[in-house]
Parts: sequence; C-alpha cells; structure tokens
Amino acid sequence: MQIVSASVLPLVLKAAVELGVLDIIEKSGAGTLTTDDHDNHVHMVYALAPVATYFLPNREGGSLAPLLELIQHKTMLNMWHHLKDAVLEGGLPFEKAFGMNAVEYVGKDAKFCEIFKGSTRDFNPLFMQRILEIYKGFDGLKFLVDVGGGDGSLLNLIISKYPAIIKAINYDLAPVIETFPPYPGIEHVVGGYIHAHSRSRSHFHEVDAPQLG
Ligand SMILES: C[S@@+](CC[C@H](N)C(=O)[O-])C[C@H]1O[C@@H](n2cnc3c(N)ncnc32)[C@H](O)[C@@H]1O
Repeated sequence: MQIVSASVLPLVLKAAVELGVLDIIEKSGAGTLTTDDHDNHVHMVYALAPVATYFLPNREGGSLAPLLELIQHKTMLNMWHHLKDAVLEGGLPFEKAFGMNAVEYVGKDAKFCEIFKGSTRDFNPLFMQRILEIYKGFDGLKFLVDVGGGDGSLLNLIISKYPAIIKAINYDLAPVIETFPPYPGIEHVVGGYIHAHSRSRSHFHEVDAPQLG
C-alpha cells in the first residue's frame, strides 16, 4: 500500500508548505499549538519533526521546499506519464510530453522558470556547505569553470570561501543564462559542455538529473 500511494505524501506536503502550515507550527513554538476534541476527549499537540524543518521555505542554510515544488509541479509530473512511451519508442519523456526539451521549456514558461531558479538556489547550500568543509580540491586554484552551473549559486559559494580564485565562469545554455543576474565575480557565458572543456583545465560539473537533461 505504501508504494501504491507513494505520490500522495509529497503532494500533501507541498499543499501544507503552500498553506504555510509548517510556518505556523514553527512560529507557535514546539508543542504549543494544540487542539481539543471535547466529544472524543482527544487533546492534540503539534510540533515539527526534525525532517519537517527542511521544508520551511526560508530556512537558514537552505531549504527543500522549492525543490519539492519543482519536482511535484504539474509540468514535471506530466513528464512521468510519458516514461513508458519513451522506453518503447525512444526519446526523452519530457520531450514527449511537451514537444521540446526542458531547457527550452524553462525559457518559454516564466512561472516555471522562477520555480526552477528557486529550487537550485535554496537546495545547493544544503550540501555545498558540507562539501566545502570536507573537499580540499579547490585549494590553490585561480580559475574555475562550472559547466551547467545554472544560476551560478554553487560557484558563488565556492569563490566566497576561496578568494584566491580570481576568475570564475559559469557556462550554461542561453535560455537559462539569460534569466539569471550574474553574481559579483562570476561571468555567465552561453556555452555547452564541449565549449567549456576546450577552454579550461579547472572545471567541475554535475551530472544532470535525467528529467532535466
Ligand atoms: C540540474 S541543473 C543544475 C544547475 C546547477 N549546477 C546547480 O546545481 O545549481 C543542470 C544544468 O545544466 C544545464 N545544461 C544542460 N545541458 C547543458 C549543456 N549541453 N551545456 C551546458 N549546460 C547544460 C541546464 O541548463 C541546467 O542549468
């Protein structure tokens, strides 16, 4: 049964985030929000479980709420209904659903573009702070290129910790780059993977989530 209804939990959570339910409980203070059902003699006490705090929209240190909004967005869910056809016929589920790839779609739908931008900006600090504590590979670098860096927020976190990096370039596709204002010290350049690899020796990039590729 858990598997059968697995899509329900994130969609209910999304509604709770949108309704501000988590915010209300958090602002009330742990255990102070209560309800009484006198007929059934039930006294309910509400508090956020530790995992719920990740879904507070303006959480310091990053939030999963905007990524939840993106992954559970109607546009993204529609894509999964085309997975079977993509397996049988070839091609990508997103392109089957919308007749264009996800990057083109982001460039055409301003509202969805805002949701996409917010999702990476708030998600990245959740793991990048920890990576920067552990990973020492950026030591001694002067130039850094992020390939497929989206809004450049990861590069921004890195150069904030490594001021010795004097030039940072974020390569991404035109419809994405054009929607993001640059961070200070980061140059947005329209270009694909091959372009960036041919110009830099100090680059990093992540593998696209399959649904966004
Ligand atoms: C999942 S997003 C990650 C964005 C960013 N790395 C972050 O974590 O905030 C993947 C990014 O790769 C970009 N991308 C996809 N194909 C690309 C290509 N051929 N060349 C450059 N960027 C590409 C997309 O536009 C998108 O911004």
